Formats: sequence, structure tokens, C-alpha cells
Amino acid sequence: MAQTTKLSDVTIFTGYSYIGSCKEFVWIQGDRIGSKQMPSRFIFRGLVCEYDVEALMIRKDLYLRTKDGKEYIVSDFQITDISDAENVGGVARNFDLLFEKFPELKSITTGEKVIITKKTQVQAFKSVSDVIHQVKAGHGIDVKQTDEVSKKLVDEVLQQPDAIMNLMDIKSFDDYTFTHNINVATISLLIGLALNLSREEMNDLGIGALLHDVGKLKIPLSILNKDGKLTDQEFMEMKSHPTYGYEILSKSKGISERARMVALQHHEKFQGGGYPRRLKGIEISLFGRICAVADVYDALTTDRPYRVAMTPYEAMKILTSGMDNHFDPKVLGAFIRKFSLYPAGSLVALNDGSVALVLKNNPSSVIRPVIKIVADSAGRRMKERVEVNLLEYKDLFITGPADPSKMNITASDK
Ligand SMILES: [Fe+2]
Repeated sequence: MAQTTKLSDVTIFTGYSYIGSCKEFVWIQGDRIGSKQMPSRFIFRGLVCEYDVEALMIRKDLYLRTKDGKEYIVSDFQITDISDAENVGGVARNFDLLFEKFPELKSITTGEKVIITKKTQVQAFKSVSDVIHQVKAGHGIDVKQTDEVSKKLVDEVLQQPDAIMNLMDIKSFDDYTFTHNINVATISLLIGLALNLSREEMNDLGIGALLHDVGKLKIPLSILNKDGKLTDQEFMEMKSHPTYGYEILSKSKGISERARMVALQHHEKFQGGGYPRRLKGIEISLFGRICAVADVYDALTTDRPYRVAMTPYEAMKILTSGMDNHFDPKVLGAFIRKFSLYPAGSLVALNDGSVALVLKNNPSSVIRPVIKIVADSAGRRMKERVEVNLLEYKDLFITGPADPSKMNITASDK
């Protein structure tokens, strides 16, 4: 007999998007019949969507909140029945209490060392979710929780002053908005660390970065989730989110001006032409300039509904190419010092035509890691695998990533 769970008076949201509410949510756990697992199903009864029900469909996970403040995650869901807009059904992989069971959460690591622990990430999710509900209810933000999370992030980042991040590892969770805020805060703090900010500055930077996109709560879902290109008018509206964010944070007690500036200025460009105020250079606060780098980098390296993520290498190339002089060179320099361009385990091409595997990064130069040559310039596999510290061989340098599929390199090589 299938096990059924019912929740009543439920709010539905995803990241910074409020989707709507329903009178009842029913979860029907799929039975196991012999060796076969039947799919689990769910039904939203009395569903009221803020916009179209389609807004539900492009997401992978949904969050549900009941009146008593309990939160649940419905992961990997698919809507299968919308014949009646108020009663919508579908199948999903999992239904769990959100903050007790978090199967997909990984720690943020350098590949070797844990930087941001699971516990802190879960706390950060919880604080973002509370912020959503406070803003939706028309209140200011209770900064206590965000402040605590920011302090923990700062502590954890400061514990590993020499760590070089491998950004392949930083992705930890499916929902873009939740993950994005934590990633942007972590990346911003690592840049702050490289710029020798004080602990107090770091804490404000963390709060600002965690809340940098809070103004998106005022942007209609139809614009936020739009699949195609925004019309001029929609884009204008989208461009108001930094101002909205600043307003929300100004209404909230205990948030410093420099933290609010992160929300207001993270889309300004160093050479001018950004929004909302078209500021230039140091007219933009340092925290705004830091968050701009972290925000774009994380967006480029994340899968979005409309495009596939770039590799860290490609994204770093875009950021540093000068193609688009959005960023403060001093901040970019600090960013490059903290993040590996060639993560351990990746294959790289060298200027003499050989191919190598990256073993570990050198804190003093992210473009000169310790490598192991795996194929010579003619493409022949090396019998003797030679380990080379590129810091000691100035004539040898990396020209870019190598394509493993063309190399016939197997997992055993790693
Ligand atoms: Fe933004």
C-alpha cells in the first residue's frame, strides 16, 4: 500500500522566486513491487500560481513551506498533469524535509581541503529562504541570521589562507539561486582575502554578497524565468533589481552601507556603462567591484535553462581577456591568485606540443602548477611518467586545456 503524506496551506518557492501557494500538497511514495520501484507522485490541490503554471516546469527542485515554518524539498520533479490548473500532478524523485536531509549537498572544497562545510551551506540556504519570506511579507530583513552565516563563511575562508580553489568543486546544488548566493559570497570572500580585507570588512562583504540579488524578489517571475530574449521594457524592469535590493536592505536594520552597496552596484562596470547608475572606476565601491567579478564568474560556470555552463578556463578567459572591460584589474588580479585556472586532474597542452596532467597548484602562480607529462610532442604516450614543477622550468608553459577525448587517456592515467 503506497505511503501518502499530506501538507496543508503550503507556500511554493524556488530560490529567489515565489511561485505561489496551494491548499494541499499530497506526496504518494512509489511502492517497490518485486525488484521494480514505482515512481513517486505528487499533487498540488487548490494551486494558485503567482504567474503561469509553466513557471514551475523549468525548475528541477521545488521548496515547500508550511505555516509552522517547516520546509521541504521536492527534487527532480516533472509536471505530468495540468489539465486542471488548480490541481496539478507530477512525478518526482524525492520528497524530504529540507534542512534535515540534504542528499545532494557537497562541501565546497579545493579538491583536497574542505573550504565551506555542509553545515554552513545548509545554514546559508535557510537564511536565504527566511529572507524570501520576510521580503514577501513586506518586512525588512532580519539580518541576524545572515550575519551569523557570513561570519561562519569568513571563519571558514580564513582558516585556509593559502588554499587555491578549484571551481569545478564549488558547484554543490541544483537550484541556481540558492547555490549562486553562496558561491558569490564564497568567491567574494576569497577575493577579499587576497586583498587583505579586515575581518569586519569581510563580514560586511559576505552579508552584501549573500543578499546581492535580493531585489529580484520584486521582479515578476515571467521576466526572471523567461526562456527567450527579454523585450526592451522587460530588460528595463530587470535592471531595476539592484535599486530594489538597495531599498529592501535600507529598510532592514543592522545592514551596513557598504553591504547595501553590493546589492546596488554589482552590475556597474569598471569602464562605465553598467546599471543602474552608469558609475565608473572607483566611483563604484570596492565591494561592488568584487561582487561584480564573483557574480559573472559564477553565472558563466553554471548551467542555466538557456545555455550550458562554461568550463572555469573558458570563463576565466572571458573575464580576463579585456574584451569587455567590466572589471577592476586589481580585483581581477586578486581573483586569479585565488582560483586555479587548471584544476588538479585536468589535462593541459604545453608550448612544446606535449600534454600533461595537472597534479597540484602552486600558491605563488596559478598558471604554473605541478604537472605530469603524459604524452610527448608527437602525441606518443610516455612510458616513464615525468613529474614537472612548472615553477622550475621557465621555458615550458601551458598554452591551454587539452581535450582528453583526443588523447586516448584513461581514468587509470589519473
Ligand atoms: Fe544581479
